[in-house]
Amino acid sequence: MKKLISIVFGLCVALAADAQIRVAIHEEEGNQPVIRKEIYGHFAEHLGRCIYDGIWVGPDSEVPNVNGYRKDLVEALQELKVPVMRWPGGCFADEYHWKDGVGPKEDRPKMINSNWGGTIEDNSFGTHEFFNLCELLGCEPYLSGNVGSGTVEELAKWVEYITAEEGTMAEWRAENGRKEPWKLKYLGVGNESWGCGGSMRPEFYSDQYRRYATYCRNFDGNELYKVASGASDYDYNWTKVLMEQARWHMHGLSLHYYTVTDWNDKGSATEFTVDDYYDILAKAVEVDEVICNHKVIMDTYDPDHEVDLLLDEWGTWYNVEPGTNPGHLYQQNTMRDAIIAAMSLNIFHRHSDRLVMANIAQIVNVLQAMILTKGSEIVLTPTYHLFKMYNVHQDASFVPVEYQAGEIVSKSGRVMPDFSVTASRDADGVLHVSIVNPMADKPQEVVLEFDALNPRKVKGEILAAPSIQSFNDFGKEPQVAPKEFDQIKRKGSSVTVTIPAASVVTLSL
Ligand code: AHR
Repeated sequence: MKKLISIVFGLCVALAADAQIRVAIHEEEGNQPVIRKEIYGHFAEHLGRCIYDGIWVGPDSEVPNVNGYRKDLVEALQELKVPVMRWPGGCFADEYHWKDGVGPKEDRPKMINSNWGGTIEDNSFGTHEFFNLCELLGCEPYLSGNVGSGTVEELAKWVEYITAEEGTMAEWRAENGRKEPWKLKYLGVGNESWGCGGSMRPEFYSDQYRRYATYCRNFDGNELYKVASGASDYDYNWTKVLMEQARWHMHGLSLHYYTVTDWNDKGSATEFTVDDYYDILAKAVEVDEVICNHKVIMDTYDPDHEVDLLLDEWGTWYNVEPGTNPGHLYQQNTMRDAIIAAMSLNIFHRHSDRLVMANIAQIVNVLQAMILTKGSEIVLTPTYHLFKMYNVHQDASFVPVEYQAGEIVSKSGRVMPDFSVTASRDADGVLHVSIVNPMADKPQEVVLEFDALNPRKVKGEILAAPSIQSFNDFGKEPQVAPKEFDQIKRKGSSVTVTIPAASVVTLSL
């Protein structure tokens, strides 16, 4: 049975219809939201080899570096156009004491990273190293403040240290090598405060949030955008209580959603069957329903959309690669992950009326990473290539589409569409359409029809691989990399493309 999926902005319904993949692109429909570039946000946590080895090798390393940051990584991330980076955690954030991470490196105390394998953290990557990295990449910093084991004063002083022009914190910052304040917009007040961030009840956290938010001040023209620690997955009560009790004090409320089908055995990142593949995909796209449900609650308390939603952790989470530290969450990344990223981003675009940021976990060497490193080698993952291909949608205007999709029922009974499309129009008026064919073994012919556009020039790029299990590995020819796509036929004002099995195509018209 085929369904007509109406991807009209903000509408989460499926209507019965008959079969054929014809996509109606409503590029003439005005008054659409912008797909905020922050939807393509990232997350760097002191976890495993994300910071050390991944981002930071130190200025004396044999690995080529720019002031301590891996040169290959910086170049790859500059090409990726990273809009925002969240740091220092995750769970790590609620045990992080920022004062330990500034000043001369030899004086910085060591700590045990108790969340992530008991690794010794030497604090050599701290506030200055993070803000300088953001400057190098041209991205907005997003700090997660310690509410679980810190104090109001500690967080308030961190904001002062970073943003004030004068005072003892500003003087200390200058002594540590930075005279000019940085700008800080995004401030997370705690992380997963219901769990690793303090095991709080939503009522208690609401009060804590209000208290912490009160003392995080705007100094010298800096304007904070304060984010309350939100729910995970299906915990709708957390969102309800926070919206009820603390919404006047927040600019945004966060949400976390990881793609895991079984927490006891999350499955291998690279060895999986076609049935496993559909099951994980179906779990990933359930994020649509989860976002819808949180939005409905937010709409009840905040019909004018004064509080934004930020999905500040998401991605696939598998068993660690054999032989690696279980606490370091190092996993490979296949074509399956790229398909999941594409289908997820297509969903996020549709929620741009309230969803203003999403941060995939984590940028390097952890979970659904963009980049993997080993010594001086680097690998760009399928997810990296997918993000780069989707860059065209950053800050573009959402374009509604309507299309017909069938349903795939996975081995655990989850239901997912067999096809997914998104479209946007950029500031130069170019229309970009991204099409995902998740079918493991079947190409799909797609006819694009427009309100008024008669496309004279169509360019295409495809991300495909020899198999859904294909991945890029150290010292080997990449298996998954984008290529030019030229299977494009124009007839009158419509465009017909054949999308190979398990692939993603972006067209620019
Ligand atoms: O990304 C790994 C962990 O998952 C984060 O530290 C935490 O916030 C979440 O539970």
